[in-house]
Amino acid sequence: MKSVIIAVGMLLFVSQTLAMDLLQNAPGREQIQLNGQWNAIVDPFDVGDKRQFQNFNGTPAADRLQEFNFDSAMKLQVPGDWNTQDDKLFWYEGSVWYEKAFYHQAEAGKHYILYFDAVNYLASVYLNGTLLGKHEGGFTPFQFNATDALKDGKNVLVVKVNNRREPDFIPTMSTDWWNYGGITRPVRLIALPQTYIQDYQFTYLKDGNIALSVTVSGSSPANQTIDVALPTLGITKRLKTDATGQASVTFKAKPRLWTPESPALYTASLTLGEQTLTDKIGFRTIEVSGDKIVLNGKPVFLRGIAIHEEKPFSDGRAWSEEEARILLSWAKELGCNYVRFAHYPHNENMLRIADELGLMVWAEIPVYWDIQFDNPNVLAKAKQQFGEMLFRDKNRAAVILWSIANETPNTEVRTAFLTELADTVRSTDPTRLVTAAINTQTATDSGRIIDEAFAGVVDVIGINSYCGWYYDAPETCAQYKWQSAFNKPIIISEFGAGALQGWQGDENTFFSEAYQMRVFKQNLIMLDNMPHLAGVSPWLLKDFRAARRPLAGIQDYWNRKGLLSDQGIKKQVWFIMQDWYAEKAKQ
Ligand code: GCU
Repeated sequence: MKSVIIAVGMLLFVSQTLAMDLLQNAPGREQIQLNGQWNAIVDPFDVGDKRQFQNFNGTPAADRLQEFNFDSAMKLQVPGDWNTQDDKLFWYEGSVWYEKAFYHQAEAGKHYILYFDAVNYLASVYLNGTLLGKHEGGFTPFQFNATDALKDGKNVLVVKVNNRREPDFIPTMSTDWWNYGGITRPVRLIALPQTYIQDYQFTYLKDGNIALSVTVSGSSPANQTIDVALPTLGITKRLKTDATGQASVTFKAKPRLWTPESPALYTASLTLGEQTLTDKIGFRTIEVSGDKIVLNGKPVFLRGIAIHEEKPFSDGRAWSEEEARILLSWAKELGCNYVRFAHYPHNENMLRIADELGLMVWAEIPVYWDIQFDNPNVLAKAKQQFGEMLFRDKNRAAVILWSIANETPNTEVRTAFLTELADTVRSTDPTRLVTAAINTQTATDSGRIIDEAFAGVVDVIGINSYCGWYYDAPETCAQYKWQSAFNKPIIISEFGAGALQGWQGDENTFFSEAYQMRVFKQNLIMLDNMPHLAGVSPWLLKDFRAARRPLAGIQDYWNRKGLLSDQGIKKQVWFIMQDWYAEKAKQ
C-alpha cells in the first residue's frame, strides 16, 4: 500500500512536470469561452511573422500600406477544423492566422490563464501583440499565463496555427486519417484566485481505500487548507498543503465500483478559500492476471469498437458533448463495454461521457507507423504528448489502457524508444495498463505467431489483423491458428473490411456490403478459437476521411471500413457484430 501511495504522489509530481503545470479539470473552472466566429488569414508562405500579423490593431488608415486586415478577412468557427468550413481549405496544409477581439474587465487579485483544449498542430499564441507561448501537438491541452498581457477593455488574441506535416512530428508524414488543421477544440479564458487548486487525483486502491493527492499553486501554496467532500459516500476530509503546495490523504470508503454495466460516479468537491472545484469520479481497479484483464477483481472480455474523432453524420473534427454522446451511444447500442479512441487523444467530452455511459477506454498518443524513433527530440515529444493526455484524463475511471503506439516497425531503435516510453508511462501512472497495437506477428503456413520483442514490453498485446482484406481469402481466417510466445491478454485492436454503404455487389466483390459481411463472419470464427483473447475492437465505428483512399465512386477520400457510413447509416455488418456481442455478453 505504501508503495502505491508513493507512486500516486510520484504520479502527481511527474505528470505535472510532464504536463507543464496544466490545470486539472479546466471545464470545471470559472471561465469565459472564446468560441464562435474568429477572423482568419490563410498564410501558405508564412509572411505573417515578418509582417507581424500578431500586432493587428484594427483596419489600417487608407494611406498606410498594410497588406493584411483581419477585420475584412475570412471567418472561421472555433472550435472547428478549417478543412470542412471552406472548400478552398479542404486539402490545405500550412499556416492560418486566427484573430479574435474580446472585451474584458479584470477582477482585482485574479490570475488569468488562456487554456486551449487542442490546436492541430503547431500553435503560437499572442495576446495584445505579446507572445504568450508556443505549443506542439495536435490533440492535447496547453495553457499560458495571460495575466500580464490582459488589458481592461478591448483585447486582441491572435493564434498562428500550422498543420504542415514534418518528419520529426508526432504523427509524422503519413497517416490514414485527415490532417484536420485549426483550433479544433474550445479556447478558455480561466480566472483563478491568486492561490488556487491546480491539480488533484483520486485513486481507488485494491483494499477499499481511496488515495487523494492535491497540488495548490499560485502566490502562497504552502500551508493551505483544502476541504474535500464526497457527500454520497459520507466523506469529508480537511487537508493541509506542505511547503511545496502538495497534500495527500488516504481514507477508507465503500463506493459502488465503476463498471460498464453500472458506471457509478460520485460527486467530489475540493474547496480552497472561496474556490470550490467539483468533479464526478468513478472508482475501480484494473489489472492483468495471466492472460486475463481483471476489472474489480473479475476477468472481463472487452467488447469494443475503434473510433476516430469525426462528426457523427459528416466529416470534420468532432469536439462537442453532443457529438461525443452520439458516437458513444452508438457504441453502447452495438453492445460495447469498451472503445478504442484511435489514434490520438480524443476531446475531453469523449472521456467524460465514456465515464458516464460505462465504456472502458483504450487511449492512445499518435506514435503511428514510422516516426523518427532514432530522434531524442521525438521521444521527448512523445513523452510530452503522453504527459498532457495523462494529466487531463487521470481522473477518468473509464481509461484502463494507455496505448503508446500503433503499427510501428519491428526494429531495435523502435523497441528501445517504446520501451523507454512504456517505462515513463508506468512510472507516471502505475494504476493503468500499458498497451500498443502491433502488426508484426509472424506469418506461418497455418496462421500467425505473436513473438516479437515489443510484445514482451506491454501489459496487454494489441494486434491489428486484416485477414480477408489485405491478405488471405476470408475463409482462410476461420482456419487461422494463433500462437503467442507470451502468457498475456491479447486484444484484436483492429480487424475489418471496407464497404460502400448500400452497394449490394456480391460477396466476391471488394467494397460490397456482402464482402464486408463475409470477412466479418470468417474473422469472428477465428476469434472464437483464439487463445489469450481478452477483447476486440473492429476497425471501426464509422467511415472517416482519409487522403490515402482516393478510389473514385467508392472511397472518394473516405476510408470505408466503418460499420456505419459517413452519414451514420448502419451497414449490414453492424448487425453481425451486434449479435456476436450479445452472445459474448452472456458468457
Ligand atoms: C491500419 C491502421 C489504421 C488504418 C487501417 C486501414 O491498421 O492502424 O489507422 O486506417 O489499418 O488500413 O484502414
